[in-house]
Amino acid sequence: MISTCMATILRVTRQALVIRSSLSHYRRLSSASMLIEQEKYSWLKQLGLSAENKGVFNGEWGGRGEVVTSMCPSNGEAIAKVTQGSVEDYRETVQKAKAAWDVWADVTAPKRGEIVRQIGHALREKVDLLGALVSLEMGKIKPEGVGEVQEYIDVCDYAVGLSRMFAGRVLPSERPGHALLEQWNPLGLVGIITAFNFPVAVYGWNSSIALTCGNVCIWKGAPTTPLVSVAITKIIQSVFEANNLPGAICSLVQGGTDIGQAMATDTNVNLLSFTGSTPVGNVVGTTVQQRFGKVLLELGGNNAIIVLDDADLDMVVRSALFACVGTAGQRCTTTRRLILHESVHDEVVARLKKAYSQVPMGDPLDDGVLYGPMHSQQGVDLYNKAIEDAKAQGGKVEYGGKDMEEAITWNNEVKQGLSSSIFTGNLGNVFKWIGPKGSDCGIVNVNIPTSGAEIGGAFGGEKHTGGGRESGSDAWKQYMRRATCTINYGKELPLAQGIKFGE
Ligand code: UN1
Repeated sequence: MISTCMATILRVTRQALVIRSSLSHYRRLSSASMLIEQEKYSWLKQLGLSAENKGVFNGEWGGRGEVVTSMCPSNGEAIAKVTQGSVEDYRETVQKAKAAWDVWADVTAPKRGEIVRQIGHALREKVDLLGALVSLEMGKIKPEGVGEVQEYIDVCDYAVGLSRMFAGRVLPSERPGHALLEQWNPLGLVGIITAFNFPVAVYGWNSSIALTCGNVCIWKGAPTTPLVSVAITKIIQSVFEANNLPGAICSLVQGGTDIGQAMATDTNVNLLSFTGSTPVGNVVGTTVQQRFGKVLLELGGNNAIIVLDDADLDMVVRSALFACVGTAGQRCTTTRRLILHESVHDEVVARLKKAYSQVPMGDPLDDGVLYGPMHSQQGVDLYNKAIEDAKAQGGKVEYGGKDMEEAITWNNEVKQGLSSSIFTGNLGNVFKWIGPKGSDCGIVNVNIPTSGAEIGGAFGGEKHTGGGRESGSDAWKQYMRRATCTINYGKELPLAQGIKFGE
């Protein structure tokens, strides 16, 4: 019954061709032969990067942990080195971040928004360089690298507006001479752990909203994209320094599982925002819950496109192409399943086969390339396994029901609940799809791909996707604590519910 999609099989097969087998070069190369030392890549220095970089920032740069070499997924070459943070570095950074909070929490919200505006402006000036760095280090094509920096810039703009708008409510009190109101206050310290696939945007969503709300942040980027973390943090550092504010407001501790575990168990971390796999998210979630900390989980998706019999097939093909091939299938919003009505099945499969066979593959930094390498060998192995699984399931892709109930059942039968799309022109079906018996995902689309969400909406999903919401709408509430305040401004002491107590 599971609808394994032919598109996935094709995608995976091509992927196996493009991945280089040279990842065994890992950490073998000396700094003299690293890409950053070559003329062709000297632009990396404009981002403040050098052959050897420090991976901890808390007002000052440091790091006493493992030295990692960042590898370029498309050619297997070393780009530059980064010294990660040790657990001791992390603990020191927490103390500095907490001290910085004393200053930051007293800055008014619109002024905090102004600082975030300046961060957005500084990013705009380097959007092209940063996009190229994302492409070089993560492996996604350059337009997508630039796109995720743009996502960070957009969310900065959003946060600037938010800084004058996040409001508590004033509610009618049942007691005379009393006022009932909500006051939103920052949580304090927000830990942000991000994944390799969106090394910029996801940090941007979290940090710009968290900062505007009056929190300080400690970021741990993925161990395989440390240069992006360093370059972004240098830009943020310049803004805080120009405003005479402590750099530790936005701290960085690059590291591995040891740092992630330290963050999850640390009662100083009021909210831990984690983006990554469902199994790791499960551990992070339960660890933070054990200490009654707050957690925001953005985990994996198993996203489907449903194509009804009245769908615009041109749009379907273009959407499936973007959502399967984009970021080489490594977005959490990537389409992993196609659920096709039997009347359109053969045509969609034929057109997708053709479209996939024509996708330009190659170096993700080259113009016109749409399909670069996978980020790591682990990803290649997963792809290969997906081919085997798809073959074993027989690649069943069609459903024949008169209405779309069966298709919705298939959409919802997986454990994850991130993104979903339906293609139809039927208004009744659209509203069924977004209603109580429709898609059970956090992102429910019509006639657009499963990937490529805008920052203005809340981003995240249900079930094994973790339930967290980031970025727009009212996601800011997760970065604040709500105080319900009842203020007696009268001379009497009436009790709620009309209770008389010893009177
Ligand atoms: C992710 O893959 O973790 O909706 C984030 C999208 C992007 C964000 C993806 N805006 O595809």
